[in-house]
Amino acid sequence: MTKPMKLQCVLCGREYEPGAVRYTCPSCGLDGTLDVLYDYDEIRTRLNRKSLACDPDRSLWRYRAVLPVEDDAHIPSLSVGWTPLYDSAKLRETYGVRKIFVKDDGRNPTASLKDRASAVGVAKALDAGQTIVSCASTGNAASSLSGFAAVSGLQSVIFVPQTAPAAKVTQLLVYGAAVVLVRGDYSDAFLLATAAIDAYGWYNRNCAINPYLVEGKKTCAMEIAEQLDFEVPDRVFISVGDGCCIGGIYKGFLDLLRLGLIDRMPKITGVQAEGACPIHDAFLSGSERVTFGPADTIADSISVGAPRNWAKALRAVRKSGGATVTVSDAEILSAIPELARSAGVFGEPAGVAAFAGFRKMAMQGMVSPDETVALVVTGNGLKDIPSAQKAVGSPLVADPDIDDFRKKAKGVLLNVW
Ligand SMILES: Cc1ncc(COP(=O)(O)O)c(C=O)c1O
Ligand SMILES: [Zn+2]
Repeated sequence: MTKPMKLQCVLCGREYEPGAVRYTCPSCGLDGTLDVLYDYDEIRTRLNRKSLACDPDRSLWRYRAVLPVEDDAHIPSLSVGWTPLYDSAKLRETYGVRKIFVKDDGRNPTASLKDRASAVGVAKALDAGQTIVSCASTGNAASSLSGFAAVSGLQSVIFVPQTAPAAKVTQLLVYGAAVVLVRGDYSDAFLLATAAIDAYGWYNRNCAINPYLVEGKKTCAMEIAEQLDFEVPDRVFISVGDGCCIGGIYKGFLDLLRLGLIDRMPKITGVQAEGACPIHDAFLSGSERVTFGPADTIADSISVGAPRNWAKALRAVRKSGGATVTVSDAEILSAIPELARSAGVFGEPAGVAAFAGFRKMAMQGMVSPDETVALVVTGNGLKDIPSAQKAVGSPLVADPDIDDFRKKAKGVLLNVW
């Protein structure tokens, strides 16, 4: 059980007692997302290399000393986190960097990094005595929330764009969520969800609104650091839609720095799709704020023209000395089989976007050969089969007959062996 010390607005820096505000900064409104801060000096005595080395818990709750859940009984039973971090020799050789690690967060229970946020979100909803939880999502946060609500005995009410991939919508229905397919894009779903949550008083799991959700996401960074024996990589690549995941990665490394577990921040690099890149545009122009723009990309999870957590996303890139990069849909699609064939990790389009961004920067000489790199694959490839099919074409179809096989395979399959 950990009580956060204070909440601090990312924009104006005002500080609040945790019980004093529910979601965003009252002065800055929806843009004023809050940071959750702890008594790091006290926590150092409980969370350190020695305590971690003795902790048998292989889930994100090994970092519970810096997770804001008040009652341990509210921790959901699904096992989240401690996903594999692969050291890919093949990628290292292909792209000429010192080391390259692939964090497979598609291995979480509902198959995306969002499970880290939902685990904490559901526990916080129970801490707050709520029975109905709700969010708007491009798909993964929603399927994740519905899974965690199911095991915690909560009802979930979910708003997703009508165009969300079938696998994600099916996950929602399987877990028993009340699902609203919103005619429009993610931005429309967000606005309707916000209005409905206000009107009905449900618990808001939107990660850009509810400060506690990013706390779950930060554990991805903590794991990367711990899995590398606290020798952090020089650069971490992650895809960016609303900006919560990259905000979480930054917060995770920053909390480790505050606890004295690491001694420097990695350069955090945000990857956006060319058709939905308002955070990249703001970073390049040096702008203080993000101007909302269009959203059109095959990578549905990052098809966000109006990022709600833009302040945390921009801060992550700027304060860590990182960068942003955009990738085309063709680059995202070609990254799906390349990552699977090189590192064995099958990611959905937004999941492999991190690799596509790294590949582009490496090929442009923007990653130095002595750098160590980590790529976060945020979602599993089975979430969006139609996109993967576009990248790999069709298999051979043959009758169950060796002569038919010989005829069909000639020049198609057998010439590659
Ligand atoms: C697989 C995947 N990757 C990346 C993202 C982007 O995360 P964020 O919207 O927090 O920037 C999402 C969000 O839905 C996602 O589901
Ligand atoms: Zn503020």
